[in-house]
Amino acid sequence: MSTPDAVPPSTVSPSPVAVGPVSSSNNRRPAGADHAAAMDRMYRLTRHVYDLTRRYYLLGRDRLLERVVTSPNTATLEVGCGTARNLIKLAQRPNHGRLYGLDASHEMLETAGKSIEKTLGVTPGLATGGLPTGSATSAGVSGHASQEPIVLRQGLAEQLDAQRMFGRDEPFDTIFFSYCLSMIPTWPGAIDAAMANLRPGGHLLIVDFWDQKDLPSVFAAGLKRWLSMFHVHYRPEVHDAIVELGKSGRGEVEFESVARRYAYIASIQKN
Ligand SMILES: C[S@@+](CC[C@H](N)C(=O)[O-])C[C@H]1O[C@@H](n2cnc3c(N)ncnc32)[C@H](O)[C@@H]1O
Repeated sequence: MSTPDAVPPSTVSPSPVAVGPVSSSNNRRPAGADHAAAMDRMYRLTRHVYDLTRRYYLLGRDRLLERVVTSPNTATLEVGCGTARNLIKLAQRPNHGRLYGLDASHEMLETAGKSIEKTLGVTPGLATGGLPTGSATSAGVSGHASQEPIVLRQGLAEQLDAQRMFGRDEPFDTIFFSYCLSMIPTWPGAIDAAMANLRPGGHLLIVDFWDQKDLPSVFAAGLKRWLSMFHVHYRPEVHDAIVELGKSGRGEVEFESVARRYAYIASIQKN
């Protein structure tokens, strides 16, 4: 289970790195601590059936992954990685490069660590350089051409910092949010932090719920009610902000529709 949010890095005991994620320093109260706790409450039980149930309504995730370009030298981050379902799929590529996952929920990351271990057959305890012991978890991907790790980290999207959280001196090549941005109350900060931690020419990819305008209206209304049971819905202001980002010249923005505007995939190439 998780350790408390408020442990500063200097007090993290120098224990061996375990497969399960360890609490980080970047989520001190009050900023974001309530949200992280809310995510833990939301996923405490559902994380056990998450991958099984969400496959039916988190549409477009695999299509987003097809747009993630990896090579042995790339660094890819999923913000709000949840159970690591997407990162595991990327790790199964021959040339996956370095893969990183950030999530607010300790509970989700615990499931992610187990899932990585079970699916990829990793050797636990490969630490990453430059990080305080116990602040991140890396899981080596054995049996692949490259021995690059997946690194998981507990923390908040809006506080993303490649150096402080992942010990990286270089920005990421790709950062993606899969059905995550619309559930972050401080989503503008999450977009800004992602852009700041992306290299020029790098890609920010987002898949999230859209307005369902191309679906029959009766079906769309029922769908909205059903989705609300899972606390998820389309947030037009997020979509609008991505459009504005393109207009501002910070990036080249393209949208594509998934399943008749059930969801959108936004691809933003940073200028
Ligand atoms: C709907 S789940 C999606 C999980 C995964 N991306 C997928 O496609 O299966 C959203 C995830 O975002 C995480 N999350 C929510 N708010 C966050 C924040 N502010 N910072 C980081 N992660 C957050 C949640 O804990 C949860 O794991």
